[in-house]
Amino acid sequence: TVLVVDFGAQYAQLIARRVREARVYSEIVPHTMPVADMLAKQPKAIILSGGPSSVYAEGAPAVDPALFQAGVPAFGICYGFQAMARALGGTVAHTGKSEFGRTDLAVAQTGTLLQGVDTGTKVWMSHGDSVTEAPAGFQVLAGTPDTPVAAFEDTARGLAGVQWHPEVLHSEHGQAVLQHFLYDIAGAAPTWTMANIVDETVTAVREKVGTKRVICGLSGGVDSAVAAALVQRAVGDQLTCVYVDHGLMREGESEQVERDYVAATGVDLHVVEAADRFLTQLKGVEDPEEKRKIIGREFIRVFEQAARDIVAQAGEEGTEVEFLVQGTLYPDVVESGGGEGTANIKSHHNVGGLPDDLQFSLIEPLRTLFKDEVRAVGEQLGLPAEIVWRQPFPGPGLGIRIVGAVDAERLAILRKADAIARAELTAAGLDRDVWQFPVVLLANVRSVGVQGDGRTYGHPIVLRPVSSEDAMTADWSRLPYDVVERISTRITNEVREVNRVVLDVTSKPPGTIEWE
Ligand code: XMP
Repeated sequence: TVLVVDFGAQYAQLIARRVREARVYSEIVPHTMPVADMLAKQPKAIILSGGPSSVYAEGAPAVDPALFQAGVPAFGICYGFQAMARALGGTVAHTGKSEFGRTDLAVAQTGTLLQGVDTGTKVWMSHGDSVTEAPAGFQVLAGTPDTPVAAFEDTARGLAGVQWHPEVLHSEHGQAVLQHFLYDIAGAAPTWTMANIVDETVTAVREKVGTKRVICGLSGGVDSAVAAALVQRAVGDQLTCVYVDHGLMREGESEQVERDYVAATGVDLHVVEAADRFLTQLKGVEDPEEKRKIIGREFIRVFEQAARDIVAQAGEEGTEVEFLVQGTLYPDVVESGGGEGTANIKSHHNVGGLPDDLQFSLIEPLRTLFKDEVRAVGEQLGLPAEIVWRQPFPGPGLGIRIVGAVDAERLAILRKADAIARAELTAAGLDRDVWQFPVVLLANVRSVGVQGDGRTYGHPIVLRPVSSEDAMTADWSRLPYDVVERISTRITNEVREVNRVVLDVTSKPPGTIEWE
């Protein structure tokens, strides 16, 4: 393990990902963790991340010099570089010269860290203070016009640091510098491969579950699909997956789960056909929050009943399903303060918001992984590409993509329009350029059109393609006009009830990604 000590900047997760891209396992720990606890994790190396702009700022976190006496290799980045310099007796000064953005590097000697890095390399800076004197024993490798000491190393002690941010893509050779530290200075080996992740997770799940029974809600989304496939590999038919078909899925999605996913994994699937039940409850309901509440509530009831049915079918009445699989990812774990085995189930999840009082122990096979690693594991497990590369889709499904009340007829209209939009996006090779592509039916809006010689009075369809990194903010995708045109022409020709297609050009904020 390589520990990334988080000094409160937004870069710690990025650093952890870059370390893993170098095939070395990394974990993020808060800077408040005592050095003894860090060392107890037996790290192969420790990376100190960026942080607040000045080591002299009030409340700025210091680094316990004991960290550097333990013989564990350490790499300081930006603030971590300054904190390291200061802890070891170097000088950090407020020079009055801040650097933000791209800067040219002047390389004095490459040493081990900067092999292959030339003078003139563009690196990305973000700092106010500067290291003006390296601690004793360190070699200064590079500087910039405003920073006399921008990189140093003491390979005998396994210590090194850089003032810039090698983890951001704007820094040239950033990944190479990080890898020189990891491989050449810290002696880490690139063993964190997808095959190893699968093996380790499978072993851990097997130990935890023993001979007990496990269930998993499948939504058709990537996370639950990969989590279930991992657990299935570990405990085979002790796992039953529950797929609740609430009738609000898009065209072909139920088949993807019921046929393709089962074919790829051989998982024991318990399908609950609940479309009638959901549509009955949703009848005449127009308020978006009300729709969400109804869908969430019905989902829980169906799921609980399924758990009882599974036990009964196995002839184990009176016993309970012990474990529930959750597709929690590493960013959720970091953002909720880390920690092992949280017992409660988060409401906003791809199982559709199961309540806190469900009496299951959790199995979270993805809790050490980033999203891109989840997809890689999915590929490693042989899951279909349509599932592994699926764009996010909300738990309430098409129920919140019909503005107005939901009924079977409107769902059929939206499903047709949505299928056309998705097919054209795929045909244009743009699936991975677009984060998500909601298609929305404005069921309570009508507009006048003309088709053939006749007047029509139909419904508009909204196209809402967006680009995003985490769905917190988003921008509208600049789809090529010829793709938009094909989608528009096909929808108005092939979906009789629709006589108008509009493109949503709103970013988030102010608009959310979904319309409801
Ligand atoms: P908004 O519309 O809030 O959506 O910009 C942000 C992201 O969350 C998804 N979303 C949901 N996902 N259950 C989910 O599992 C929900 O109730 C839900 N509502 C929105 C949305 O599709 C987008 O990716």
